[in-house]
Amino acid sequence: MNTRARGAFLTIEGGEGAGKGTILKDLASRLTGAGYRVLETREPGGTPEGLELRQLMLGTKGKVWDSWAELLLMTAARVQHVRRVIEPAIARGEIVISDRFVGSTIAYQGAGQGIPAAEIEDLHHKAVGDLWPDLTVLLDIDPRIGIQRSLARLEQENLDEGRFEAMSLDFHNRVRESFLLQAAAKPGSHAVINAEWPLADVASAVADAAFAWLGKNGKTPTKT
Ligand SMILES: Nc1ncnc2c1ncn2[C@@H]1O[C@H](COP(=O)(O)OP(=O)(O)OP(=O)(O)O)[C@@H](O)[C@H]1O
Ligand SMILES: [Mg+2]
Repeated sequence: MNTRARGAFLTIEGGEGAGKGTILKDLASRLTGAGYRVLETREPGGTPEGLELRQLMLGTKGKVWDSWAELLLMTAARVQHVRRVIEPAIARGEIVISDRFVGSTIAYQGAGQGIPAAEIEDLHHKAVGDLWPDLTVLLDIDPRIGIQRSLARLEQENLDEGRFEAMSLDFHNRVRESFLLQAAAKPGSHAVINAEWPLADVASAVADAAFAWLGKNGKTPTKT
């Protein structure tokens, strides 16, 4: 029987090159340093099946998914991720931090590609149940700056994951607007951070928001 207190589910959202991956590592190490047990994960990915879907979805070579096909693939990866990784870790009392989650689906497949947010939320509910992030850190950035950062990183790491970077600026502005709307709709579970600041400033603002939320919600370090 599992007698541990529930952990927490944090997500980091934002457009291309906002700094999600970098900030996730920084936040995870600060939380670990403070005695929390932390699980770092990301979408699409997070499970072997999700990783295969990630390669199908993010590659640039001849991938022209219909919006609904893409939504269903993202959701399939999410179901695996939630059932196999996220829920068990939360039940073990861990702090799960995911680089992207359903907020990105609402922003990209929703605002970006035109599927109504309500349909995505409904599908999420059917596929995943009632799991929504306890706290979403939104790294907000002008897409023109973010895409520059992201393309530089993909080239440096020789990654073929640039399909969304290749979308129009208009697309990315809709994505940004959607993230901001989601945060405004649920202010108690979102922290919006200006990701154009220097990295050290972004990192400390994110840590402040996360520690404040954990403190306020009685999530004390569980390491013994
Ligand atoms: N605040 C910042 N100022 C300057 N550069 C930054 C900042 N945050 C991140 N970077 C750099 O920008 C690049 C993209 O960062 P990162 O990969 O963490 O972003 P991401 O949001 O995960 O991007 P993607 O959507 O492409 O996965 C990296 O090279 C990172 O070092
Ligand atoms: Mg990333």
